[in-house]
Amino acid sequence: MTRTLVTSALPYANGPIHFGHVIGAYLPADVYVRCLRMQGDEVRFVCGTDEHGVAITIGAEAAGKSYPDYVAGWHAVIQGTFDALGIEFDIFSGTSTCRHHAELSRDFFRDLDAGGYLIKEASEQLFCVPCDRFLADRYVVGTCPKCGHSPARGDECPACGEWLDPLELVEPACKVCGSEPERRSTTHWYLDLPKLRDARIGEWFQSKTWKPNVQAFVRGLLADLDKRPITRDMKWGVPVPEELAGDEEGKVLYVWFDAPIGYISFLKEWAEDIGEPDAWEAWWKGEDTELVHFIGKDNIPFHCLVFPSMLHGVGKGYVLPEAVPAMEFYNLQGRKFNTSTGWQIPLDTFFETYDADSTRFYLLSSAPETSDSDWRWEDFQACVNAGLADTIGNLATRVLRFCDKHFDGKVPPLQEAHRSELDAAILTECGEASDPAASIRRFRFREATSALLANAAIANVYIDRTAPWALRKTDLERCGSVLNTACEWLLLVARWMAPFMPTKAQSLWVMLGQEGPVEAAGWPELPSGAGWRQELGGTQLGEIEGLFAKLDDATVAAELAKLEAQAQ
Ligand code: 2FM
Ligand code: ZN
Repeated sequence: MTRTLVTSALPYANGPIHFGHVIGAYLPADVYVRCLRMQGDEVRFVCGTDEHGVAITIGAEAAGKSYPDYVAGWHAVIQGTFDALGIEFDIFSGTSTCRHHAELSRDFFRDLDAGGYLIKEASEQLFCVPCDRFLADRYVVGTCPKCGHSPARGDECPACGEWLDPLELVEPACKVCGSEPERRSTTHWYLDLPKLRDARIGEWFQSKTWKPNVQAFVRGLLADLDKRPITRDMKWGVPVPEELAGDEEGKVLYVWFDAPIGYISFLKEWAEDIGEPDAWEAWWKGEDTELVHFIGKDNIPFHCLVFPSMLHGVGKGYVLPEAVPAMEFYNLQGRKFNTSTGWQIPLDTFFETYDADSTRFYLLSSAPETSDSDWRWEDFQACVNAGLADTIGNLATRVLRFCDKHFDGKVPPLQEAHRSELDAAILTECGEASDPAASIRRFRFREATSALLANAAIANVYIDRTAPWALRKTDLERCGSVLNTACEWLLLVARWMAPFMPTKAQSLWVMLGQEGPVEAAGWPELPSGAGWRQELGGTQLGEIEGLFAKLDDATVAAELAKLEAQAQ
């Protein structure tokens, strides 16, 4: 049996997440997990907040809060958004609160050191005299030496994506007080990436099939690889192991060193919580585990190169990733989401007005799988109205209300005399169903949403052709057989819907008179032959309600106007 261990990039606990994050690393992972589980696979799904590093300390200092209070506040907000969207992790922990995180991170550091993969070295770094601290990463801003963009951050240029060392910045300045920093000597530890590449990681990377964007990017990095500093002079973070720190005080692990270890430490916490403290190991070290990291494209180097190097370098038998589905960027009406300029859709109130499942479906249908894409209110409207309400919702209500009214609230019986003819009609003559799971397993979420809609559309064609409304007056038994077949198809639609729209799928399931969770029914085989039906005849239907509310033009216009008004 294959075990699939799914991770979603740990969001920084320094602000709300937006739809770009949601479709980048969380929603596709949730759909993938739900689908695999319905197919009977064993899956664990791990996430939590990334709570160390300069992005956090700068945010907390600006907010006038202690670091723990600051991250706890954002952790709760982010968790609330995932709850509202129906994204369900097995564990959602945090790197500063997880009981195992600091020690496991230190163990990684120790093991890499013991394996000869760490280099300890003194070097010059930027120091801000008024602030009395070394300016790690984002504490320093300046002009990118590669592309000239300003402001570039000390760790990375937001324009060209180049990894930077603060010393490379042209005209550096302290982000907090604006002073020009001076150079001072300080000792740090570096991860010997060239050695790890030659030990195995280079070969491992070349041996695998990657998406073109991953392949090209990481190949370039591998060809020109340098050691990377993995410690910082900061107060907030995981302290370097005491026995290795020696006289070097005030050193913590770099946030990108400790964060991905959260994928492991959080699963340790999960294992302990379920009362099987060793259970995490079979997932992280089992030969039959497939590790899948869902990320946005800006996280590619860390998940395809640095973290695999760490996993290999500690020599503890950790599995390396099998797949790293990396989404491109998702924008809002043609421009980047930006909370500070107001070009955003606040998610804390969004779900008071809009349905989470319809939102999930639209996001997936517009996912930035192969190139950047956009949330567009007009497209959201079209997706909900023409896609969900007309194709699925309308199908369900017209079929089920008809049964309710003319067949005593039950699925009418199928007359044997009609079986083969109606099987042929719905299985082949009105279109051919395709399997959304096949697309989901290849991380093609757009294709999967199209497959679901196309499968539902088959029943609409079938209803138009068989015209049960006319038949009711001429041949009630045949009319019943026709509706019976449509109900059988709807039962499949509910199961196909479940990974994408779990709540709506459950509503349809209950309307069809079914008990228990729809997901427990498992993933359906593609219908063919004689055995595709559940033999629903006689089933008492549940209460019938509209599944999807349409969005009117005025709502869309108001949202667009609001966006323009709030943007600076
Ligand atoms: O880019 C980010 O938002 C990071 N917080 C992602 C970390 S992923 C993992 F490695 F922890
Ligand atoms: Zn300063």
